[in-house]
Amino acid sequence: MSELRAPKGTQDVLPPESGRWEEVISRFGSAAHRAGFGLVIDPLFEDVEVFRRGVGGASETVTREMYEFDDRAGRRLALRPEGTASVVRAFVQHRPPLPWKAYYVTPAFRYEQPQAGRYRQHHQLGVEALGTEDPALDVEVIALLAELYASLELRAVELRVNSMGDAACRPGYNAALSDYLAAHETLLCGEHRERWRANPLRVLDCKQDRCRSVRDAAPRISEAWCDPCREHRTAVVEGLKALGCDYVADDFLVRGLDYYRRTTFEFRSLALASAQDAIGGGGRYDGLVQSLGGPAIGGVGFAAGIERILLACDAEGVLPACSERVQVFVVDITAGAAVAPVLLRDLRRAGISADRAYDSRSLKAQLKLADRSGAQLALIVGDQEAEDGSVLLRRLRSRQDDDLDSQQVVAQSLVVAAVRRAVTPR
Ligand code: HAM
Repeated sequence: MSELRAPKGTQDVLPPESGRWEEVISRFGSAAHRAGFGLVIDPLFEDVEVFRRGVGGASETVTREMYEFDDRAGRRLALRPEGTASVVRAFVQHRPPLPWKAYYVTPAFRYEQPQAGRYRQHHQLGVEALGTEDPALDVEVIALLAELYASLELRAVELRVNSMGDAACRPGYNAALSDYLAAHETLLCGEHRERWRANPLRVLDCKQDRCRSVRDAAPRISEAWCDPCREHRTAVVEGLKALGCDYVADDFLVRGLDYYRRTTFEFRSLALASAQDAIGGGGRYDGLVQSLGGPAIGGVGFAAGIERILLACDAEGVLPACSERVQVFVVDITAGAAVAPVLLRDLRRAGISADRAYDSRSLKAQLKLADRSGAQLALIVGDQEAEDGSVLLRRLRSRQDDDLDSQQVVAQSLVVAAVRRAVTPR
């Protein structure tokens, strides 16, 4: 029988690597909470229309990359290729009070050609804020993501900002761009020579040299902005400056999803190759709520790929995996005295992570497991200790400010306090 493996383009994340995921997710979750966002958990699959109408029927993410299927009752469903459309669908269905600030952590599925940093199942951290067109919210959302990268000590990060215009000025820009591309069609890359008419904006972020040279002389969206879009844009960049948030203005930052109006932004890691350097991005989508059946309200948000953030951490040598699975390991060599379970319960209640060995292993075998667990301390209980109510506390890893002897006997009633003093908090 052939060996069963994770599907192409997916990966298993196991400890200790998954510890880095926990760290990124918990930093993101608490930052989102502090900014007034609440967690939303919504289905991984939706009626395919949520994405066709939400993300846009012409976007590649929907036309070429979506996992679509019929369920047993013949409903046409799709796995979410991203989080925004589902969160907006949930808003339209439940109508929570506005403004509504939601955050999520979710897998996203795209049938892409897998390569480093590009997967068929990737994982996003994201926020969506609905109910206002105030540019202050664009700034807040961008700054929240910038702060997350900074808290992870990522330094080689560049923020790019653009405005896609709105229903008033974008059609004129699209027409000007289409005229220009029609005149330069033969110079485009093979794919875009065939397909640019379906979505002319896509040519602007094509990475092929041929499209790049055509793009350089193309009409610029910044020249087409109407007055309200220009004002919105000015307020966003002024807000970023006030927060000391550096950015690069990028007329060609169009992003792959069709719902954007006005602000778009992307964070790139300068430590990663360009095919996988987008470590997060987002923007404003003022028509999206309405196109999914809700009121005409604005919205803005971002999503950041967890795998990409961790690749950037690797490239910058920050957030190493932690080899300490638990802080304390209980070694029980009694002939069945019930000391270990009580010790474990008390330590865990006190917020100290602790584990033990099972199956009555020898002292040597248990100490080996203790070492492998990465624990800082072993608590050893033999028959003698069980009898006189003590525990042998042994340091397994030395600490710089160590004032603990490598080994000491502690009364069982005082173990939690002694351990607390001796371990480095998590
Ligand atoms: P997106 O740029 O398509 O935006 O994806 C967000 C992030 O997910 C990217 O910046 C990247 O870090 C990561 N990502 C995307 N595709 C892959 C992949 N195949 N493999 C690994 N990582 C990937 C959105 O999804 C929008 N919903 C963001 C948004 C929220 N806009 C407004 N609100």
